Amino acid sequence: MGFVIAIDGPAAAGKGTLSRRIAETYGFQHLDTGLTYRATAKALLDAGLPLDDEEVAARMAREVDLGGLDRSVLSRHEIGEAASKIAVMPSVRRALVEAQQAFSRREPGTVLDGRDIGTVVCPDAPVKLYVTASPEVRARRRYDEITSGGGAADLDEIFADVKKRDERDMGRADSPLKPADDAHLLDTSEMSIEAAFQAAKSLIDAALKKN
Ligand code: DC
Repeated sequence: MGFVIAIDGPAAAGKGTLSRRIAETYGFQHLDTGLTYRATAKALLDAGLPLDDEEVAARMAREVDLGGLDRSVLSRHEIGEAASKIAVMPSVRRALVEAQQAFSRREPGTVLDGRDIGTVVCPDAPVKLYVTASPEVRARRRYDEITSGGGAADLDEIFADVKKRDERDMGRADSPLKPADDAHLLDTSEMSIEAAFQAAKSLIDAALKKN
C-alpha cells in the first residue's frame, strides 16, 4: 500500500495545480478523479447515448481507462456539465470509486484529488487536505485563466456557474462534497498557490515522518 494524499474541494479552488505540484515533489502518481467522471460522460456523448440512464452510464464507467485521461480534451464545459449529471448516480460512483481505489494502491504513493477522496474513496489516507476559496475568488481565477490564454469570458456567467456547481456537488445525496472530519482546511481565498503548497508540504512531511 502506497502513501495516499487525499485532496478535496469545490471546483476552481486550486486543487489541480496543488495536486500536480505535490505529486511532482514527492515522486507520487496523480489522479484527477474529476477526469474519470468526465471520461464517462464523454464516452456517452460520443456514442450518442442518453445521460439519464444509470445502467448504461455505469457500464461506460466500468470501461474507463485511467491511462487514457486527456485533460485538454476533457476540460470542455459541456463535458463538465454532463459529468455533473452522471456523478449523482450511485452505480456510476461505485464503478469509478473502485477504479480510483485500485489506483490509490500504487507505490510509492499517490495523490488523488476530487470531491469525496477523504470521505469515501480513501478514508484511511494519512494526509487529507480540503482546499477551498470563496466563490468570488474562484470565479475570478477561472476568468483570469481563460482570458490570459486569449479566450473570451464573462465574469458574471462564470460566477453563476461556480455557484451552480457548488450546489450540485454539495447537495447530492450520494457522497456530497464536504470536508472529512480529519481533513486540514486550506482556504486559498487570500493565500497564493505557493503559500498553499508550502502549508501542504509541512503537513505531508510531518505525516511521512510518522509513517
Ligand atoms: O472537478 P471536475 O470539474 O473535473 O469534476 C467533474 C464533475 O465530477 C463535477 O460535477 C464533480 C464530479 N466529481 C465527483 O462527483 N467526485 C469526484 N471525486 C470528482 C468529481
